[in-house]
Amino acid sequence: MCGIIGYVGNEECAPILLEGLRRLEYRGYDSAGVAVHDGTQLNVRRAAGKLTALGDSLARSPVHGTTGIGHTRWATHGKPAERNAHPHVSGDIAVVHNGIIENHVELKHALRAKGREFLSDTDTEIVAHLVDIETTAGATLFEAVRATLKQLRGAYAIAVISKRDAHTLVLAKNASPLVLGVGDGVMLAASDVPALLAHSRDVIFLEDGELAEITREGARIETLAGAKVERAPVRITWSLMQAERGGYKHFMLKEIHEQPRAIEDTLRGRVSWEDASLEPAEMGISAADVAGIRRVVFLACGTSFHAALHGRYLLEGLARVPAVAELASEFRYRDPVIGAGDLVVAVSQSGETADTLAAAKEAKERGARILAVVNVQGSAIARMAHGTLYTHAGPEIGVASTKCFTAQLAALTMLAIHLGRCRDTLSADRAGALLREFVQIPNKMRTVLETAKHVETVARSILHTRDALFLGRGLSSAVALEGALKLKEISYVHAEGYAGGEMKHGPLALVDRDMPVVCLLPTDSTLEKMLSNVQEVRARDGNVIAVVDDETVAKDLATHTLRIPPTLEPFTPLLSIVPLQLLSYYVADLRGTDVDQPRNLAKTVTVE
Ligand code: AGP
Repeated sequence: MCGIIGYVGNEECAPILLEGLRRLEYRGYDSAGVAVHDGTQLNVRRAAGKLTALGDSLARSPVHGTTGIGHTRWATHGKPAERNAHPHVSGDIAVVHNGIIENHVELKHALRAKGREFLSDTDTEIVAHLVDIETTAGATLFEAVRATLKQLRGAYAIAVISKRDAHTLVLAKNASPLVLGVGDGVMLAASDVPALLAHSRDVIFLEDGELAEITREGARIETLAGAKVERAPVRITWSLMQAERGGYKHFMLKEIHEQPRAIEDTLRGRVSWEDASLEPAEMGISAADVAGIRRVVFLACGTSFHAALHGRYLLEGLARVPAVAELASEFRYRDPVIGAGDLVVAVSQSGETADTLAAAKEAKERGARILAVVNVQGSAIARMAHGTLYTHAGPEIGVASTKCFTAQLAALTMLAIHLGRCRDTLSADRAGALLREFVQIPNKMRTVLETAKHVETVARSILHTRDALFLGRGLSSAVALEGALKLKEISYVHAEGYAGGEMKHGPLALVDRDMPVVCLLPTDSTLEKMLSNVQEVRARDGNVIAVVDDETVAKDLATHTLRIPPTLEPFTPLLSIVPLQLLSYYVADLRGTDVDQPRNLAKTVTVE
């Protein structure tokens, strides 16, 4: 996730671009840059670090002009550094990009063969080269971008500026957001509405597969195939603060709704949408790495630990390799037996959690191989690991992890399928069936999100509870732990997650008519056993809230049901966690807590 901005008008645009980028900084903040046309040439300025670094650079040596593009970056390809910051330039062309170009490796090879040299590690730089090739051959900027887009596979929102035209920008969108702002003698473009609001409240949302040319006079929009698009602007009535959260009341709710996109971005370039095959080069773990693995040890804390539990179940199931999941905060303090032959998978959203970092370092010193599964590029855990499998959830602002958790589940599921194939414990047929279902999951998640209103009603029914239990078996046991953690961290309701089979060993004593018991009952290999556990709860008058993919399952047992679509067992957690996140969110919001910044907690825990 990155933020892009473009401006064509009559005012000095560098301050306008900077202000727009400030409104987009939530989308990425590891480096930033602008390209401004001064009437004669393009002036490009870039800086690593937060936006203030670019602001300082522009204050020291301003760039002038009334047409420009800007970018704030959240690294996906190439670590955060000035050379990887956008805009990327080739000849007369400068480009900013949000998204991932899936076929960038093959395009780069082809461009190198034509003598093109690359100055960055990004996938974006190829776009600048491709457009430059077309304009050098005589195409207009609009047609050059169109010809370039036809060669790209993946997600993009791009803005392109050319030295040859001081008053035009070309924009295009596919699977990454892009909106145009219409003003009086002014046109803007941005990744999100807040960046435009100071200059325009009339906006045109571009659709996938469309490109636009903007000048002071207005916009010309066409599809990639060349059909003209007439779309009237819509008036935005949100306040700036509402707009920054995409109209959602809290970042957490926005991030819950961003999950389908986070999963798509995490799969992108690694699972082919066309034929549902795995593209292992992007997985950060080679066949040679796999050959030497004796055991897999997951290290993580909090929500990431729950994702690690999911990874452990799936690795054992699909790749038949012994796997354990350890709390990183405990691991170092028991003189662990670990070394060569162990693959340590360090799972962390921030990549900076002190306990996970220290535990992974200790394992590395003892000879283990370290694979990081992190969301933040260039973070400490990514830097110390031998390899990294990035989740591409984009920046997560709410302290309660939601989209990063499901992106971790997706990454670890890919890893398990990959290892299963490498070790030949998973047949090509079964892997194919899994991957075909995998690419359906984002849309299935969207159907779960559509039930949010119903989940809010259920939340209202348990609003005043002091305690809650969450039960699941097999893969759903990690979901039960995560559901309980979500509820307690943002609503301050005491909640416990249990493996269903453990109920009779103690927690059943807590159950009475006042106790909400959230039971995960997807149709999977543990359903029958789970139903016996739910009967035990019902026999004590417990208030059962059932997460089901088949309403008939919980009939006569549940006070409320939360519905998810049926899926294959390994993917159930990706769907069943969503209503639990929503349930926690609504309970917290209705209780009036500070949802995005719960008391006593921090987004990144850098103390041991
Ligand atoms: C999640 O909602 C929590 N805020 C917390 O448990 C978090 O997952 C934990 O601190 C680990 O963070 P990490 O993923 O950045 O390592």
